[in-house]
Formats: sequence, structure tokens, C-alpha cells
Amino acid sequence: MYCVRVEKVVKHSKDVATIVFDGILPSYPGQFVMLNLFGYEEIPLSLSSPRSVTVKAVGETTRALVDISPGALVGIKGPMGNPFTPAEGKALLVAGGIGIAPLLYLHDYLIAEGVEVHVFYGARNADEIVCLERLKSYEVATDDGSAGFHGNVVELAATKDLSSYRKIYACGPEPMLKALYKLLNERELLNRAEFSLERYMKCGIGVCGSCVLENGLRVCVEGPVFSAAKLEW
Ligand SMILES: Cc1cc2nc3c(=O)[nH]c(=O)nc-3n(C[C@H](O)[C@H](O)[C@H](O)COP(=O)(O)OP(=O)(O)OC[C@H]3O[C@@H](n4cnc5c(N)ncnc54)[C@H](O)[C@@H]3O)c2cc1C
Ligand code: FES
Repeated sequence: MYCVRVEKVVKHSKDVATIVFDGILPSYPGQFVMLNLFGYEEIPLSLSSPRSVTVKAVGETTRALVDISPGALVGIKGPMGNPFTPAEGKALLVAGGIGIAPLLYLHDYLIAEGVEVHVFYGARNADEIVCLERLKSYEVATDDGSAGFHGNVVELAATKDLSSYRKIYACGPEPMLKALYKLLNERELLNRAEFSLERYMKCGIGVCGSCVLENGLRVCVEGPVFSAAKLEW
């Protein structure tokens, strides 16, 4: 473990913030860190850029992190885990809720590589949509219809012809990913998709078994990014 200092905290809403570190963490989009906020549990967080994490407060540690002050020191293990693989041509990013975090990093990376990127971004309501200013081309979906398409992000994707996208990347709650898996399977596009999964993690290094998927793969070492076709949902 090593320490990095928090340089800046960008509050997107009461419960979501981007914590910017004072140095770059050499990494690829899709990789995560085990972050140790001293006095709290060590938690996994995807990088939302080479020097930031974007966090939603759901419990004690994430609440303390969203409310952290610039200048504080945090412990980091990693970056670790398998990243997204690059695309050529046109790429689609499908985000659900705070699943936007790793896709922000991927978005910027692909744009810099000259890839044409479009984003479908779904959340419960307009207040939970964050960081839109970072996205070049996007459509929003909200469950309550308070912004964009009225419905979930997979229902939005289902209204579109997806066949021109060479790669489809997704991150979000598992029910959303399972619905997207079904849609892409029906359209025979599953082999173009990569999903970033979340599981409760303890060790982050493949030892404790707390992050094992139904198919025996461990999210911390074989993931968190998986080829969708390998998930066998
Ligand atoms: C590879 C990976 C990348 C992640 N990236 C991000 C990110 O970029 N931004 C972000 O905000 N969060 C991310 N998470 C989720 C984050 O790790 C959890 O929200 C955090 O551990 C919760 O800690 P807590 O102490 O605040 O809450 P806890 O009190 O531990 O949990 C609060 C609630 O969240 C649920 N929960 C805890 N951990 C997870 C999990 N891993 N998956 C689903 N539900 C969980 C608990 O069951 C409980 O209901 C990621 C998780 C993984 C595995
Ligand atoms: S978190 Fe321990 S095996 Fe993955």
C-alpha cells in the first residue's frame, strides 16, 4: 500500500463526488484500486480517470469519502484488475447509476484514440445523473422520466439499432447488466460486449473467495471487466 493526497473534491450531488488525487496512477480504464480511508474499511473503487475515483455514498466508508476534505491522505493498493480492451470505429458505452465511473475514464481514453463514442446513461432520476459535461455524445434515461427517455437504460438501448457499434461496454447494477446481456444475445451482438462487474470484496487479490461469480471466476483477478459472452447468464 502507498499513500496519495486528495488534491480536490468535486461534489456532483449530496451523495456523489469525484475525489481527485495529487498524482497520476498508471492504469487503464476499467481497473480499480483498493482504497483505505484510515479508520474505515478498505473498499474497491474503479478509477474514473488516471487520478480520480467517483464515489456514491451508500454506507459508512463511501459517505466519509464523499465528504472528505482536500489535503487528506488515503492509502491505495493497485491499480489492479483487468481493464476494458480498446475499440476501433464506433463504440457504445452503457452506464447505470454510479456505473458511469469507470466508463468516464474509458470515454476519455477512447476519444483520445480517435474512436467515435456514444453513451446511454440511465439513473433513477435527473438528480442522480452526474458528470454529463464530460461526455461528448450521450442520451439519458430516467426511471421516473425526470430527464431524457422515460424508462431504464436497457429499454432505451432496445429502441435503437446497435449493429454499427464495434464494441459495447457496460457497467451498472447486475439486473441492468443481465437485461442488457439478454438484449445483446437476441441481437447476436454479445461477442462485441464487455461488462464491468461488482461484487463484495475483501482481499482484492484472489485469495479470500468473497468475489466469486456463479461461473467460478473471481471479480478481483479475472475481472472486474469480463467479455459478456463468458458470463453465460
Ligand atoms: C471492482 C469494483 C469497483 C467499484 N467501483 C465503484 C465506483 O467507482 N464508485 C462507487 O461509488 N462504488 C464502486 N464500487 C462499490 C463500492 O466498493 C461499495 O459501494 C463500497 O464498498 C461500499 O462500502 P461502504 O462501507 O460505504 O458501504 P457498506 O456499508 O459496506 O455497504 C452499503 C450497501 O452497499 C452494498 N454494497 C457494498 N459493496 C458492494 C458491492 N461491491 N457491490 C454492490 N453492493 C455493495 C452493501 O450490501 C450495502 O447494502 C465498486 C465495487 C467493486 C467491486
Ligand atoms: S476479493 Fe478476495 S478473492 Fe476476490
